[in-house]
Amino acid sequence: MGLLDNKFGIVTGSGQGIGRAIALAYAEAGAQVLVCDVNDDMGAETVRLITAGGGEAVYVHCDVSDEDSVRAMVDTALQAFGRLDIACNSAALSRGSGPIHTFDRGIFDQTLQMCLTSTWLCMKYEIAAMLEHGGAIVNISSNASLRGQAFNTAYASAKAGVNILTKSSAAEYGARGIRINAVSPGVIRTPGLEKYFEEQPDKADGLKKAAVLNRLGEPHEIADAVCFLSSERASFITGQILSVDGGGAVR
Ligand SMILES: NC(=O)c1ccc[n+]([C@@H]2O[C@H](COP(=O)([O-])OP(=O)(O)OC[C@H]3O[C@@H](n4cnc5c(N)ncnc54)[C@H](O)[C@@H]3O)[C@@H](O)[C@H]2O)c1
Repeated sequence: MGLLDNKFGIVTGSGQGIGRAIALAYAEAGAQVLVCDVNDDMGAETVRLITAGGGEAVYVHCDVSDEDSVRAMVDTALQAFGRLDIACNSAALSRGSGPIHTFDRGIFDQTLQMCLTSTWLCMKYEIAAMLEHGGAIVNISSNASLRGQAFNTAYASAKAGVNILTKSSAAEYGARGIRINAVSPGVIRTPGLEKYFEEQPDKADGLKKAAVLNRLGEPHEIADAVCFLSSERASFITGQILSVDGGGAVR
């Protein structure tokens, strides 16, 4: 008996990294998964990995910053599965860092769009699809949202917005049987992180030492927490921000 048997789910940004690990974990736990990404080759590879492991998955191209694309993503899930029970909103982009007084307004706006507005958009259509029978949503936040982060104000503010979006929507939809939580990763070994280390080598050493467990996290460690929060095992948990960070937030 899998933790997510007979569940139908969406994972955004599941072409690589944390999102791919969540899609694989959902499928391994028994769910049928709609894999969504802007990179069709990587999305197809996630579906191949799921089906090779005996799971069931469908791919749809979705740009989470575009409302028509998000609406079509949820419509595809309803057409493919007949219902939507669980969703994890993982797609996001960090668009650079720097002091506010020289920071580009356009990059600030894009960061809010790609981290916060996109999460809200996905929730809008996912919630509408869950209203009749209930469901569970997990948003992927970041430990960057938990305390002051010099030179990372756009991403940190956007992810702090994801946290309060999670709590506020949990309050709004609890009575309709929809639980909404967030997982806040610490520093996790993904292609996105490797790219960040290449672009900002001066930040790599500090980030590698962020966890009190003294190592980087692995994507499957985020996926395990998302599976739990998506499942009936978490039936009395809503509106929570769970750090999965090797203790990075306690320093
Ligand atoms: N890796 C970390 O250390 C870390 C830490 C804290 C939070 N996070 C968060 O975890 C999530 C995943 O991060 P990751 O490191 O796995 O990222 P990643 O860059 O490795 O993967 C991101 C995926 O999202 C897809 N994507 C990008 N733009 C998209 C769009 N507009 N629509 C749909 N898909 C899109 C990419 O194609 C890619 O498959 C993000 O929300 C990120 O902010 C990551």
